[in-house]
Amino acid sequence: MGENAWIDMDSAIQDQLDLQVELSLDRHHAFMAERGLGQCRDVVDVGTGNGRFLSEVALLHPTTRFHGIDNKPHMMDAAEAHACKNVEWVLADALDSETSRLLGETDGVIMRYFVLHLPDTRVSFQKILADLRPGARLWVLDLDIDHCRCEPPNSAFTGFVDLVRAFCDHNAVEIRTGALLPPILEACGFEVAPIVVEPFNNLNIDPLRLADYLCREASLYHYFLHGTPGTNELRPLREFLMSQASTDSQFVQYGMVMLSATKSSSSKRIPKADDRGDGEAGASAGSCSG
Ligand SMILES: C[S@@+](CC[C@H](N)C(=O)[O-])C[C@H]1O[C@@H](n2cnc3c(N)ncnc32)[C@H](O)[C@@H]1O
Repeated sequence: MGENAWIDMDSAIQDQLDLQVELSLDRHHAFMAERGLGQCRDVVDVGTGNGRFLSEVALLHPTTRFHGIDNKPHMMDAAEAHACKNVEWVLADALDSETSRLLGETDGVIMRYFVLHLPDTRVSFQKILADLRPGARLWVLDLDIDHCRCEPPNSAFTGFVDLVRAFCDHNAVEIRTGALLPPILEACGFEVAPIVVEPFNNLNIDPLRLADYLCREASLYHYFLHGTPGTNELRPLREFLMSQASTDSQFVQYGMVMLSATKSSSSKRIPKADDRGDGEAGASAGSCSG
């Protein structure tokens, strides 16, 4: 993904991250709270972005220590604006040793809309999760193209899903979180609970807010792929979402899933690619089981 696009589109990205928090915070927080967040004393949010999500969660858990990590200085600048006494903002790459140190001392890890940004999911997960202690929790909240739905089908929505897929292909990442992450995590020594599909659809979210969210999302993907916001190209999607998809006879869902996993107490330390020196770590799912 072009670094310039992150800067060019900074304000649109920040707005979208904020809207995402407004639409999903309650569901995402409830999911994590039901799966151990309250028992954690120290939690790391990897790829924390502008820190809006983490700061809202931190307010709900004042006795827990949180660390928000991101590798983009402008995101960290935005995060610093959230004055939360129980959050430390850290400018670092998820794959760096400073992050490994933090992760080795934590008992909870959040990854929210982050997996898509990793270069190779299997190898990256192996590296990021290698130093986690047995019993540490992981929550992944992310897109899943397998759970996008439009009933009855509509060509504008199909075009939107194709755009998301093209963006994922561009990043060389398959964003099929529910199908692909569990075996990777199991190979990394995690026990993975059944995934939950988030009801990110026009039955659970006000259709016009959902339409606004999906149009902004499509425009960002269009910008990252083609360098323009796609105002004309995305007009059919906008019209469909604002009219038909706002009626009871149309069902529209953006694929989002919630996954929780626990580092198994019997798991050994995972050897990292650097430890092996053969440059092939993570080539198979079994290679990161230690
Ligand atoms: C879509 S944003 C999600 C932000 C936040 N988690 C949320 O849910 O609002 C993804 C973030 O991951 C960050 N990121 C991407 N690759 C990273 C890496 N290797 N290390 C740390 N942060 C990374 C980006 O800078 C971006 O802020």
